[in-house]
Amino acid sequence: MKLDREIKKICCIGAGYVGGPSMAVIAHKCPEIIVNVVDINEERIASWNDPDIKALPIYEPGLAEIIAECRGKNLYFSTEIKKQISQADMIFISVNTPTKTRGIGAGKASDLKWVEASARQISEYASGFTIVVEKSTLPVRTAQTIKQILQSSNKQSKNKKFSVLSNPEFLAEGTAINDLNYPDRVLIGGEDQESIKKLIDIYLHWVPRKKIITTNLWSSELSKLLSNAFLAQRISSINSVTALCETTGADIKEVAEAIKSDHRIGKDFLDPGPGFGGSCFKKDILNLVYICDHYGLKQVSSYWEKVVDINNWQSERILNVIIEKLFGTVSDKTISILGFAFKANTNDTRESPAIKICRGLLEEGCKLKIYDPKVSSQQIEKELCMPLTEKKWSFANSIIDSVKGSDAIVVITEWQEFKDMDWESLSKKMRSPSWLFDTRSICDIEEAKNHGFNIWRIGADLNLMN
Ligand code: UDX
Ligand code: UDX
Repeated sequence: MKLDREIKKICCIGAGYVGGPSMAVIAHKCPEIIVNVVDINEERIASWNDPDIKALPIYEPGLAEIIAECRGKNLYFSTEIKKQISQADMIFISVNTPTKTRGIGAGKASDLKWVEASARQISEYASGFTIVVEKSTLPVRTAQTIKQILQSSNKQSKNKKFSVLSNPEFLAEGTAINDLNYPDRVLIGGEDQESIKKLIDIYLHWVPRKKIITTNLWSSELSKLLSNAFLAQRISSINSVTALCETTGADIKEVAEAIKSDHRIGKDFLDPGPGFGGSCFKKDILNLVYICDHYGLKQVSSYWEKVVDINNWQSERILNVIIEKLFGTVSDKTISILGFAFKANTNDTRESPAIKICRGLLEEGCKLKIYDPKVSSQQIEKELCMPLTEKKWSFANSIIDSVKGSDAIVVITEWQEFKDMDWESLSKKMRSPSWLFDTRSICDIEEAKNHGFNIWRIGADLNLMN
């Protein structure tokens, strides 16, 4: 048994948005530990190993520098799942847990087939004592399933022993490296105190002890779901009021500032927008809804479901506003879409509100020119389920390229370059009357107005306001 030994080798199953950066930071902070990140996706692993550091599969500020420093020293990416599991003292499960698309719980419950597959691989290939850590966001009590799968292998082989911990990741995309380097808290759930201590020791390399919280397994699993649900709830709360502001002359920016100044409410996650996207919020709330329903807590599940309803309503509402303002029809009009990622500083498009808004406009017969500083045309094709060759939308390489000849600009992602646009030169490239739809409330409205733009800004009716 390896129980009394230090953790020398870590394996992480899943080289995605969570597994990649979180393991890179562990390797960076713990040079004495060998970190092996494995994945079934050969292409993804090849990108992680690409000598051109710009070719990494995900874009995160600060990540490339860490990879350049640690890769090949104590950080490795491979598809050698069997070998790396067998040699690891600690294994993180960081595979994706999408919402089920069919069967019981379809549309709400998480599909745990990848987590289960990882547990089976661990149970088969691990040797000696292995600490298994849930990194993926999982429904409460998943650790029980993992334990059962691992225990079934104990029966087959007496020299295998496992301890299961929950250590959810709270990093946000775009700020992942900073979040990992300076976390608000590290949460570790488990029963086996020795294993918990081994994981704490890893984090103590850079995280103060007072920021490391230990709980039982189920509290840890549920806290992660709830943290995301609470953050999403704040966004839906502020977004729900945007429509009210637009009809009453109140300005959501002023209202939000006034609310934020109460320290009990706090400043974060109250920026109005086209609705939250990303791989987590919707999936995790729906999962919470499913769990509540499962335990017969109907009132609780409908409470949380409303957070997702408001989010869906917000992007549909924006789509309708655009069509209505453009004289009720966008057919044969050209619209410049600025931003396709679900938020700034990432190339991730999962659940981006841009998808729904763009698809809706395309269905109405509109032509789109889409520009995002980090999202590729192939990625947009995939999300829109519409190849470029159909010529219904085109990919622009710059803001100016995207606005040429268009009737309207729709700002969907809050990239810095959309905050500092040169309205004079943009106005000269567009068709008149030209419109700006600022769904993030980030543009210099006065400047745009001075250069002849008609303006719709989220959470404000400029005519009613004055
Ligand atoms: C993470 C979390 O782990 C998930 O629970 C959370 O809710 C969303 O964020 P993420 O890292 O974003 O997932 O997912 P993704 O980028 O899709 O990466 C998962 C990786 O796991 C993929 O590269 C996939 O190929 C890999 N995988 C999946 C395996 O290596 N083995 C499997 O059996 C299944
Ligand atoms: C989120 C959580 O923040 C993180 O802790 C968890 O580990 C994973 O899920 P992420 O999805 O990467 O992170 O991004 P986040 O910054 O939370 O933004 C989510 C969505 O909410 C984005 O679409 C963003 O634009 C939107 N948002 C955020 C708002 O509309 N308004 C805000 O005030 C904040």
